[in-house]
Amino acid sequence: KKVVLAYSGGLDTSVILKWLQTEYGAEVVTFTADLGQGEELGPARKKAELLGIKPENIFIEDLREEFVRDYVFPMFRANALYEGIYLLGTSIARPLIGKRQIEIAEAVGADAVCHGATGKGNDQVRFELTYYALKPDIKVIAPWREWSLTSRTKLIEFAEKHQIPIAKDKRGEAPFSVDANLLHSSSEGKVLEDPAIEPHTDVFQRTVSPEDAPDKPTIIEVGFEKGDAVSIDGVAMSPATILTKLNALGKENGIGRVDLVENRFVGMKSRGIYETPGGTILYAAHRAIESITLDRGAGHLKDELMPKYAELVYYGFWYSPEREMLQAAIDKSQEHVCGTVRLKLYKGNVIVIGRSSPASLYSQDLVTFEDDMGAYDQKDAQGFIKLNALRLRTLAMRKRKLGK
Ligand code: ARG
Ligand code: SIN
Repeated sequence: KKVVLAYSGGLDTSVILKWLQTEYGAEVVTFTADLGQGEELGPARKKAELLGIKPENIFIEDLREEFVRDYVFPMFRANALYEGIYLLGTSIARPLIGKRQIEIAEAVGADAVCHGATGKGNDQVRFELTYYALKPDIKVIAPWREWSLTSRTKLIEFAEKHQIPIAKDKRGEAPFSVDANLLHSSSEGKVLEDPAIEPHTDVFQRTVSPEDAPDKPTIIEVGFEKGDAVSIDGVAMSPATILTKLNALGKENGIGRVDLVENRFVGMKSRGIYETPGGTILYAAHRAIESITLDRGAGHLKDELMPKYAELVYYGFWYSPEREMLQAAIDKSQEHVCGTVRLKLYKGNVIVIGRSSPASLYSQDLVTFEDDMGAYDQKDAQGFIKLNALRLRTLAMRKRKLGK
C-alpha cells in the first residue's frame, strides 16, 4: 500500500506519517507545498528523511504562483465573500493541495491519500471532495476520524515511542489552531472559542494593529487587466509577487483583520480571527475598477451569483460543474475590467481615491449637472418615471377604493 500524505513537517502530520507506517503498514509519500505560509520547507524534507521516507518519496513544491494565478485571482474576479465577510483564504487553498496530492498519487502509483484535518471541520470536506472529483476510486485516510490518539498526551506518547522530534513549544497544548498561506492566516479554537471575548493581541501574526500603524497614509496604484491585478505603481509583477507586495503594504497599515462567527458546512458555528492584508486591498481595488468598467446589468447579476459562488468555494466544491459554470460567466464579465485604481491605506482602512480605465463606461458628459450639450434629455425622465409608476398608482387607487 502506498499513501500520499499532505505533510507540513509539524508534529501532528509527523505522527500521522508514523501512524500510517506502523498501523497501516503503508509506504508513505510526503507532499509539502509552499503556498506562502511563511515557513521554510527545508526542515520538512529533513524530518521526512529522519522518519524513514525515501528521497524519491519526498515531494516539496513551491506552488505560490499557481495558487494565486489559478485559484486566488479567479475567486477575486467574483468578489467572493462567504457570509458577507470571509475572503475564503483557507477554503481556496484546499483544492490546490488536494489536486497535487492526486497528481502525485497517479505519478507514483499510490492508491491512497491522507490529510490531517479533523472530523469536525470544513477542511476534511474540501480535501476529500477534491480527491473524489479528480480520482473517483481513490482511497482516503483521515486519521483524526479513525485513530485512538484523541488527546495531546496520547499524541506526545506516540511521538516519543517512535522517536519523532518534538519542539519544546509543541509539548503543551497549542493555544489555538492556525492555518496560513499567501492569502491569509486564520486562528481558531481553544482560547478563541468564546465569541464574546476579544482575542489577545498576540493572535495576530501578519498585521500591525491599526492603532500602531503609521499616522501618514500610504498611496498606491493597482493596475488591472481582465479583472486581475497586474501591476503596483506602474510596475508589472507576477500574481504571487503582487499579493506578496500587497500583503506587506497591508501589514504596515493594519489592514485586513476580521473577527467573525461563521457557519461551517458540517453544521456548527465557529469563531475565527483572520488576517487578509493583501486580499482586503485587492478586493477594494477590484470593486473600484469594476465600478467604471462593468455594465450595470452584468454587475448586478454578478453580485447575485456571488454568494452562491462563495458558498461553493467554502463548501469545497471547487471542482464541480456549477462552480465552473459560474466561473465562465464571471470570467466573461471581466473582459473589459482593466485600468488603474488609486488607494489610500491608512490605519486599517482601504480608501479608494481614484480610478481610470481605457474601457471606462463612466461618462462625465452624461452625469454632469452642468450643461450636457444634449447628451441626455431631462424630459425623457418624465415618461420613464410615469410608466414605472403605473403599477404603483394602480395599487394605490385600489387601496383608496377598498380602504386596504
Ligand atoms: N474556518 C475557516 C475555513 O473553514 C478556516 C479553517 C482553518 N483551518 C485550519 N486547519 N486551521 O475556511
Ligand atoms: C479542522 O477541522 O481541521 C480545521 C477547521 C476546519 O476545517 O473548519
